[in-house]
Amino acid sequence: MKLDFGGSVEDVVMREEFPLKKAQEILKSETIAVLGYGVQGPAQALNMRDNGVNVIIGQRPEEKHYWQKAIDDGFVPGKSLFSLEEATQRATIIQYLISDAGQMAQWPNIKPHLKKGDALYFSHGFSIVYKEQTKVIPPDFVDVILVAPKGSGASVRANFQAGSGINSSYAIFQDFTGKAKDRCLAVGIVIGSGYLFPTTFEKEVYSDLTGERGVLMGALAGMFEAQYNILRKNGHSPSESFNETVEELTQSLIRLVSEKGMDWMYANCSTTAQRGALDWKGKFRKAVEPVFEDLYDSVKTGKETEIVLRVNGAPDYREKLEKELSEMRNSEMWKAGTAVRSLRPENWGKKK
Ligand SMILES: NC(=O)c1ccc[n+]([C@@H]2O[C@H](COP(=O)([O-])OP(=O)(O)OC[C@H]3O[C@@H](n4cnc5c(N)ncnc54)[C@H](OP(=O)(O)O)[C@@H]3O)[C@@H](O)[C@H]2O)c1
Repeated sequence: MKLDFGGSVEDVVMREEFPLKKAQEILKSETIAVLGYGVQGPAQALNMRDNGVNVIIGQRPEEKHYWQKAIDDGFVPGKSLFSLEEATQRATIIQYLISDAGQMAQWPNIKPHLKKGDALYFSHGFSIVYKEQTKVIPPDFVDVILVAPKGSGASVRANFQAGSGINSSYAIFQDFTGKAKDRCLAVGIVIGSGYLFPTTFEKEVYSDLTGERGVLMGALAGMFEAQYNILRKNGHSPSESFNETVEELTQSLIRLVSEKGMDWMYANCSTTAQRGALDWKGKFRKAVEPVFEDLYDSVKTGKETEIVLRVNGAPDYREKLEKELSEMRNSEMWKAGTAVRSLRPENWGKKK
């Protein structure tokens, strides 16, 4: 379906034009190996299994946690749960869904098991685009495709179970079989995408790394902290500071933005709020524009991926990430958040 974004036309694939039945037909003689049972792995694997696709899991058995998680979800060692290498060997479409740093580390073990006509699938352009750093260079006898859900794995599964879907982008990097696009879209549909929009591996990774470091996660947390701290410094209580910074946004305003856009949210606030927000919006944009310039440059030049590969490639990376998340969780602002959430009517009487 052609969508006109005010002059820029995009070819978006909706479920109606690529129905589940068509996807199942395309994939009926394929075996799909999901390598990695972390966050995206389980979501995509379970959605595909529920959609009647032949799915197996590849996971390091020696790392007990995710191996056990796959067993708990009904995958059976030796039948539908294998080592990374064996799953690759047994499959025709290989979904490379271990962490991006793990993809680089495991590539020398995976590559020898790829067979002529296989499809190598990614949910991020990372490994392929930054091949100088990752050394992930696929052989020329496989298709290389991408479907990148624009949401966390948890939402990919939850939205599927609720009957909706997460939007995904899709891209073809290498078409050996001449069927790469059909295979790519079919997988995009069976993992539960709401609709699929086209991109390239490069555009996907540049925009994704910018988005998560920027508005979606990094800038969001930084803005919250800055406003909370200024309110606290001026004598406002933790609950007032948290309500004015986070709770009102997540419980009310952002839902209006999601429903009908920013002007709709503004129009539903007081005229006092509208006047002030319209006056201050430009100041904030000017203040952060140079930071976004720095960020995009750091993504494009490969500085961000260099950091990810080095830091998340270390054996103790999980403990280190958890330590930083725990510092965030135990900061006054987010402890205030726990207290404020417990006061929501739906949480009355529940344990924090
Ligand atoms: N998280 C999301 O919601 C999301 C959204 C869109 C796209 N993606 C993309 O999807 C892919 C998977 O991301 P993810 O977040 O699901 O994974 P993740 O949580 O970062 O990684 C966990 C998985 O990677 C494995 N792993 C990590 N290091 C490894 C190594 N050195 N050797 C072998 N396995 C290793 C883990 O198994 P072990 O227990 O054996 O270490 C586990 O299976 C990435 O390309 C990511 O960018 C993720």
